[in-house]
Amino acid sequence: MTRYILTGTTGALGSRIFRNLIRLVPASDIVVSVYNPSGATEEVKSSGVEIRKGDFEDPASLDSAFAGADKLLIVSYPSIAHELRVRNHISAIDAAKRVGIKHIYYTSLAFADDSVAAVMQAHLDTEKYLKESGLTCTIIREGIYSESWPLYFGFFDPKEGKDEVLILYSDGKIAWVCRDDLGEGTAKIIAADVGYENQTLLLSGDKPISFVEFARIVSQILPGDRHITVKVVSEDEYVKNNLGKQSKELLRPWSTTYKALERAELEKVDPLLKTLLGRELRPIEETLKEMLDAQLGDGGKGATARYAK
Ligand SMILES: NC(=O)c1ccc[n+]([C@@H]2O[C@H](COP(=O)([O-])OP(=O)(O)OC[C@H]3O[C@@H](n4cnc5c(N)ncnc54)[C@H](OP(=O)(O)O)[C@@H]3O)[C@@H](O)[C@H]2O)c1
Repeated sequence: MTRYILTGTTGALGSRIFRNLIRLVPASDIVVSVYNPSGATEEVKSSGVEIRKGDFEDPASLDSAFAGADKLLIVSYPSIAHELRVRNHISAIDAAKRVGIKHIYYTSLAFADDSVAAVMQAHLDTEKYLKESGLTCTIIREGIYSESWPLYFGFFDPKEGKDEVLILYSDGKIAWVCRDDLGEGTAKIIAADVGYENQTLLLSGDKPISFVEFARIVSQILPGDRHITVKVVSEDEYVKNNLGKQSKELLRPWSTTYKALERAELEKVDPLLKTLLGRELRPIEETLKEMLDAQLGDGGKGATARYAK
């Protein structure tokens, strides 16, 4: 019997990993470590799995949360604060070592090994620490969520009626992948009996798309005769124009994402996810249509803010 401990199950990715893992292994083999002050989700509570309290910022809580398990999933801490993020990941890795976890799975991000993107730096530091920890680990570089597209596409809001999207680089492509597909693929990796030890895996979409192409797809989906275009601007202009929507503290480091795009860091496609799922991946067009419909009907309010933490 293998005992699994999952963190992050109240979140967008972790909830999907849980939903899929419980179809692959018995509920009695899963323990969920929950930080969220509101407790576990109804889905987790009704599944019958054991629930423990675990907070990355309280190392003692992690010792009891992770005790007795073989495999630990660390869902990366959601923050743009580099030091805090790395510290929390290190806390989880150190606790895993103390309690004798055999295999850690860490959800990293799809940028390159030598990425210039600010958002990737905490992942690279964590990956390094994990590799040097002496523990068996699998680093899962999760592709860019299809659902996070407004963050990359100039914080586009269809209700504003602005048809020009300001970006910093127009030719870089992104191999978008939806969270449902990532959750399923990640669960299959965790549940695998053998394999993936001490490997860095990439779960990507299968079709890198440029912003020009992206604008064309958005134009086709939006009602009315809208023609969305992209305009490349300087970093200062980008920051100035988006200050009402996001803080300078987010926008400056976020600009480095476009530098990474210029280096084709998010274009890389790996067939692994499709192989794991044994079916086609969900096309970005479907996610876009669903989200734009929801935004236009008010249901998607805050779609950008959701990812700009
Ligand atoms: N691949 C992409 O394109 C992409 C896009 C956006 C974000 N991300 C990053 O990917 C990771 C997962 O994303 P997500 O969308 O699932 O994020 P999310 O919905 O914000 O969930 C993140 C999880 O973080 C956990 N957490 C927060 N504070 C914690 C603490 N003190 N101790 C332990 N756990 C804590 C929560 O776990 P509990 O369930 O225990 O409360 C929560 O479920 C995050 O790091 C996020 O920044 C990736």
